[in-house]
Amino acid sequence: MVHTKFCDVFGVDYPIVQGGMQWVGCAELTAAVANAGGLGFLTALTQPTPEALVAEIDRCRELTDKPFGVNLTILPAINPPPYAEYRDAIIESGVRIVETAGANPAEHLPAFREAGVKVLHKCTSVRHAVKAQELGVDGISIDGFECAGHPGEDDIGGLVLIPAAAERISVPLIASGGFADARGLVAALALGADGINMGTRFLATREAPVHDNVKRRLVEATELDTELIFRPLRNTARVARNDVSRKVVRILDEGGQFEDVRELVAGVRGREVLRTGNLDDGVWTAGVVQGLIHDIPTVAELIDRIVIGAKGLIEGKLSEVIGK
Ligand SMILES: Cc1cc2nc3c(=O)[nH]c(=O)nc-3n(C[C@H](O)[C@H](O)[C@H](O)COP(=O)(O)O)c2cc1C
Repeated sequence: MVHTKFCDVFGVDYPIVQGGMQWVGCAELTAAVANAGGLGFLTALTQPTPEALVAEIDRCRELTDKPFGVNLTILPAINPPPYAEYRDAIIESGVRIVETAGANPAEHLPAFREAGVKVLHKCTSVRHAVKAQELGVDGISIDGFECAGHPGEDDIGGLVLIPAAAERISVPLIASGGFADARGLVAALALGADGINMGTRFLATREAPVHDNVKRRLVEATELDTELIFRPLRNTARVARNDVSRKVVRILDEGGQFEDVRELVAGVRGREVLRTGNLDDGVWTAGVVQGLIHDIPTVAELIDRIVIGAKGLIEGKLSEVIGK
């Protein structure tokens, strides 16, 4: 019904992507997205080992016979996870689609290409998108300043970033950051993208494996309730505003260093927020799009609503504008 070249290249019904989400991108959510016709990604590093990732891929296969992928987020770390082992686990499991993010994927592309794995690379600037296209990725996901997680340091919103990328990108282009509904999908298509990626909106679905308090907070929160942390360290992250995020911003603004906030921003604390629903116990990721989230549907309801709504918008309001 809403079909673009992204659907043809990546083998899915609808151009709607559920991007990688640490502690959230597990089999139930990803399989639900796949079953509803979208492209879901398990999050590799949510699994403690490559072997655990293989088990999670198997679990996802039990829940869907549709295509799904795995997100491999490559971030700078003092003790980096064994990225190559995770990559090989993905390949050996027979997964055919990968979302890379966080850094240049060059090191991993030859292995993926040899195994026939399609790569959707997510980045936050036109120059990185162009670079990834030159390296031979199969699709680009471009994350605007609105996005949850790491928006980069350029601060370019989707309204300019998406068409600027579309002017330079010929492989399928996915618009990311700030999308939640049919209006967003139609706008992304008009801006030159071939589909949308959503994180925060999928966090507020029934199948997301997080505490109901988190989902309810996304419904209650407005577009004003996120925080940009780590700005002075040039490793900006957009998170839900809470006691901890405010404290982190204050410490760094007063000249503190990463060591001074390390304990506050520990990943395990964020994971515990999602598990227990104690919303002020750590930092957890959310985007400004929470201002557009008003309910907690199933994934299938959400995707149907977006697809049917997009068709209605194009045939209705937009056609009326040109007198049809
Ligand atoms: C809870 C949460 C965790 C995330 N973790 C990751 C991650 O591990 N790797 C990644 O590439 N993106 C991650 N993201 C970003 C999403 O994949 C997506 O790019 C982003 O959410 C898009 O912006 P939106 O939230 O406005 O839809 C995360 C987002 C959320 C909400």
